[in-house]
Amino acid sequence: MFFPVKLRRRFIQISFSKPGPPPLFLRKLALAVLLAGGLASTAQTADQAWLKYRGVGGRWSLPLQVRALGNSELESSAAHEVQRGLTAMSNASVLWRGSSLDGQTILGTVDEIRHAFPDLPVPSDLQPDAYWLSWIGSTGDLKGSEKSTKLIIAGANERGVLYGAFALLRAVATGQAVYGIDSRSHPAFPIRWVDEWDNPDGSIERGYAGRSIFFEGGSVREDLAPVAEYARLLASVGINGCNVNNVNAAPQLLDAEHLKQLARIADAMRPWGVHLAMSVDIASPQKIGGLATFDPLDAPVRAWWAAKVNEIYTLIPDFAGFTVKADSEGQPGPASYGRTPADAANLLAGALEPHGGIVLYRAFVYNHHLDWRDPKADRARAAYDIFHPLDGKFASNVVVQTKEGPIDFQAREPVSPLFAGLRQTSQAIELQVTQEYTGQQRHMVYLAPMWKQVLDFDLRADNKPSSVKEIVSGAAFDQPLGGMVAVAGIGRDAWLGSPLAMANLYAFGRLAWNPDLTPDEIAAEWTRQTIGADPQVVDTIVHMLMESWPAYENYTGPLGMQTLTDITGSHYGPNIESSERNGWGQWHNAERDGVGMDRTVATGTGFIGQYPRDSAKLYESRITCPDELLLFFHHVPYTHRLHSGKTVIQHIYDSHYEGAAQAAEFVNEWTTLKGRIDGKLFDDVRSRLEYQAGHAIVWRDAIVQYFFKLSGIPDEQGRAGHFPGRLEAEDARLISYKVIDVTPWEDASGGKAVTCGESSVEHPCSAEWTYTGAPGRFDITVQYFDLQGGTAQFTMKINGQSAAAWAADAALPSRRPNGDNSTRRTVRGVDLKPGDVLRVEGTPDATDPAALDYIEVTPIRAP
Ligand code: GCU
Repeated sequence: MFFPVKLRRRFIQISFSKPGPPPLFLRKLALAVLLAGGLASTAQTADQAWLKYRGVGGRWSLPLQVRALGNSELESSAAHEVQRGLTAMSNASVLWRGSSLDGQTILGTVDEIRHAFPDLPVPSDLQPDAYWLSWIGSTGDLKGSEKSTKLIIAGANERGVLYGAFALLRAVATGQAVYGIDSRSHPAFPIRWVDEWDNPDGSIERGYAGRSIFFEGGSVREDLAPVAEYARLLASVGINGCNVNNVNAAPQLLDAEHLKQLARIADAMRPWGVHLAMSVDIASPQKIGGLATFDPLDAPVRAWWAAKVNEIYTLIPDFAGFTVKADSEGQPGPASYGRTPADAANLLAGALEPHGGIVLYRAFVYNHHLDWRDPKADRARAAYDIFHPLDGKFASNVVVQTKEGPIDFQAREPVSPLFAGLRQTSQAIELQVTQEYTGQQRHMVYLAPMWKQVLDFDLRADNKPSSVKEIVSGAAFDQPLGGMVAVAGIGRDAWLGSPLAMANLYAFGRLAWNPDLTPDEIAAEWTRQTIGADPQVVDTIVHMLMESWPAYENYTGPLGMQTLTDITGSHYGPNIESSERNGWGQWHNAERDGVGMDRTVATGTGFIGQYPRDSAKLYESRITCPDELLLFFHHVPYTHRLHSGKTVIQHIYDSHYEGAAQAAEFVNEWTTLKGRIDGKLFDDVRSRLEYQAGHAIVWRDAIVQYFFKLSGIPDEQGRAGHFPGRLEAEDARLISYKVIDVTPWEDASGGKAVTCGESSVEHPCSAEWTYTGAPGRFDITVQYFDLQGGTAQFTMKINGQSAAAWAADAALPSRRPNGDNSTRRTVRGVDLKPGDVLRVEGTPDATDPAALDYIEVTPIRAP
């Protein structure tokens, strides 16, 4: 329910209960708040994301004086945040003066509130981190005297106060009812963490937003202002832990010097209730401790970890714990000594337990040297096969952290059966905000609808309702811990590098607090706070976000084939066979007569048997298996009919054309927002969406031509293999350009492209075609490869006259021409008649050979 917040203009002031000057950290914080504008301009990441606190207009009737009853660091953050947010949103001046309880917003823990207002019915059963918002002197109709109106923000603990403060600000910023509010809220999961896969050298594994805000050159960075800013963003959506280093962990981070440096990160995050966690290499006792072994059952190894953990807690008293990737993708693990993940996890848990720390042991353990000739070998089975037998063997402060699906963050996977396979073990679900397999932030893909499906999926363990969210909250099997973890991948380039990608970080936090929220309401909240409250803006952006994952799935790997990307390389462009015939086990078995991985119990790898009875039954039969997962579970002929009535091959063709059309439509939808939103943002997102629409065509054509060739089955709509208006570079009159075979072949139209070896600015390479179609007005698309390591130049000429010139300066993966870097430039509104000469000139630069795939001449349709 939304209605405009009415605001009465008042001065905002902030005060603390203790008389006399505030303690030092408060003075520091106050200063930080007053200087926030200045700091923001020098910090490397000044993007306030959804905490822009843009004015909401109207008149306010909120008590703008802010008073914190306690003087802890967290309450201070909360009070200053309320002051900062309300100041910005009301445009009021800031005034400091003595304390008064009249007409105030009052913050405190439930104990503090109860003490100050003994008659107030403060809830006595708030769970940790929960908050309660209520009013005194007003029951919502503001009948009480204005002077005695008090808005109460009570937290179960200090962190709850902070979360309550952000909840109030969110309500105001999104135009929700705040008068007479009487609401309480608690997080669904105790563990709400982000994992950053940052390396000490400042690079970020699978990060797409520049370099690390935490590390550079082997050390923690001097300037940790962005870290504090990030922690504030995280706190605003209730995230309480941040693991700052790559799961492929650098052991040196555990040495004395680095631990001191890491303590500075913990200090920067602490005022926001975000606790530091670390990934550790289980072989550290050997690698940096000088021991001969890292056997988890070895006494000196145990003593080494105990001492190391003590050292950590001396420096970081609220250290959250360790994340462990072991026996996985080359990381050392307990298997070296014939020990189990439980042995390794319990070793660390034992060291952490006296301090209250926890171990998040990742279930992402598999053999990446599988025998692809063995029809029973199946990477999807690994987590369950390894961890299910260990259920009940983990210490109580161990949490098994499992990726949402059994493979690896693909555009679509079934839910991991391991969630139902651990009944006596605390569990967390691992998601990815960083869009490793979902367009690497160059594509708009809002992931909340996917996460929501996963969280809501009912695994029916013991044939009883048991959704993933109930399992990972600990509720389903009565476990002490549980949670949600997202690999965030933020960097110095505006956090995620792309404005719309931030909706994913926001949505992760919101779902980790309340998995019953819907993805569209979260998207609306995010849009209102980040971009604007104009209903057309909100509706358009919510619609685009909600359509974006289905569109991406359509133009990449539909029907549960996984993403069909280059899985041994960039994880970005199309490369269908990269996941076949190798040990990584991500096979989809595309053959001449059929496609899909047989994971049935009856004839396949038996993976389906890992699910509880009802889900296993659903997936085992081709008849009941949902279309969107059919090829994950079954190998079927291309002529197999889906529930939709289409054949598999026709679905592959149709979904790719549909997905590319959806991506093109995003550009049109966004264009309707011109003049309604910030101009810079409009231009930035528009050019990103145009790129995405072009890359969706690269995807469409790659997948369609591959399966058309492999199956030999024509497209009922006649599109496969036919491209009206397309003129291939290899068929052009070429000067200095050479024809090459592109690898993989499906990434270029017709499998071929041209590259320029020798040329000069005076004598560029050129490709020339004579136009033979009907006269008219056209858009001309030039499809070229923008390679790393150089900035090639292109010119499009019509009858010798330049129609467009541009530099190939995008940052796209790979140094070889392929689907990672195939991109386009469209020259619009060109008049052509038969006999006109179209010419593209390319000048290479360094390792970029100005490679060209085709041009396409498209008639401009009447509007
Ligand atoms: C993926 C990803 C790796 C990462 C791994 C993990 O495979 O590509 O970069 O290390 O997941 O989750 O550990």
